[in-house]
Amino acid sequence: MSRASPPSRRPSPAAAVTPPPAPRVRAWARALLAWFAVAARDLPWRHTLDPYSVHLSEIMLQQTQVKTVIPYWERWLQSLPTVGHLAGAPPDRLIKLWEGLGYYTRVRNLQRAACVIQAEHGGVFPQAYEAILALPGIGRYTAGAIASIAFNKPYPVLDGNVSRVLARLLALRVDPRTVSEELWTVAARLVATAGRLPAGAAGREQKGMVFSGNCSRLNQSLMELGALVCTPHHPQCGVCPLAGSCAARALGCAAELPVRDRKTTLTRRFFFGLLLVCEDKYWVRERPAGQVNAGFWEFPNIEALDGELPTNGLFGFPARELDRVGQVRHSITRYQNTVTFYRAAVSQVVPGLGGRWCTLSELSQLPVATAHRKMLAQLRESGI
Ligand code: ADE
Repeated sequence: MSRASPPSRRPSPAAAVTPPPAPRVRAWARALLAWFAVAARDLPWRHTLDPYSVHLSEIMLQQTQVKTVIPYWERWLQSLPTVGHLAGAPPDRLIKLWEGLGYYTRVRNLQRAACVIQAEHGGVFPQAYEAILALPGIGRYTAGAIASIAFNKPYPVLDGNVSRVLARLLALRVDPRTVSEELWTVAARLVATAGRLPAGAAGREQKGMVFSGNCSRLNQSLMELGALVCTPHHPQCGVCPLAGSCAARALGCAAELPVRDRKTTLTRRFFFGLLLVCEDKYWVRERPAGQVNAGFWEFPNIEALDGELPTNGLFGFPARELDRVGQVRHSITRYQNTVTFYRAAVSQVVPGLGGRWCTLSELSQLPVATAHRKMLAQLRESGI
């Protein structure tokens, strides 16, 4: 009979997070609130408790930096100040307001959520966590952010920034994604503990910002700490409110955490775009419904799997008649796209190409796909 194999020495991921005792969680919550009271950045969405505005900021802040988001958020709310305005807005207007932020499913889901709020909640943003979570485009993180920031409800948030803070605080030796449920539990205990602390523990409000309560402050303090102090490569432990209790700092390994199992590999894709010019007009086309970036305008282009300009040229224009004008790179999710643009001139508008002719300034008024907008900016600068 074969002997049973010895138990593995590798800790199972589930055992990687030791649940912190309540007094420690309380000390962390106090330290975070006290720090946030003085360190919170004055951000425009911190001047409102309107759940629609909070929802908008949270969606814009996914995959986009704070400084980029600020003008978009302000412009959007000037143009569409309420859920009702958003629900009734034509898609073109939304795309134009979002142009440059990328990841356009976000904007379509925002409008779908607004329509659900109109149809099922009488136009009033729901307060119940489950109802918020049920809205299109809202996952656990965004539901927790809206419920805590707009309504001071004790629901946790856990994104890349917060995971990093917790992974270091607990000196987590495994990829945080493998123990995310345990980290959600730690984040939930932190926000619930903060919700039970007296409001005064947070200190005075600053610079006219408004917070619905300690649940809002606690969650935003974790986001803020991850963004400003507990940064990926050079954590500034000297100014961290949790430094005294941070297990990674005690072990001298804060900068090496969190560990990652494996990097997702990037896929390179090559496209060739045609700048077909007639006098001062360029031939452009709109991306059809049902495709990525539907409703956006672009210069006609093709993908070449081998990365080479096709020997028969582009759209019936032979390679010898094409001039290379420029190249732009654009990364999205796991794709690293390179678009090389070639120019061809015609003396008469070519009919039947299935697009339209536009001057560069007319094109600037339309929503244009990101890589093509980069080319458009180069064309406008160089006056090619
Ligand atoms: N990132 C995500 N949500 C945020 C918020 N409310 N403030 C700052 N950064 C954030």
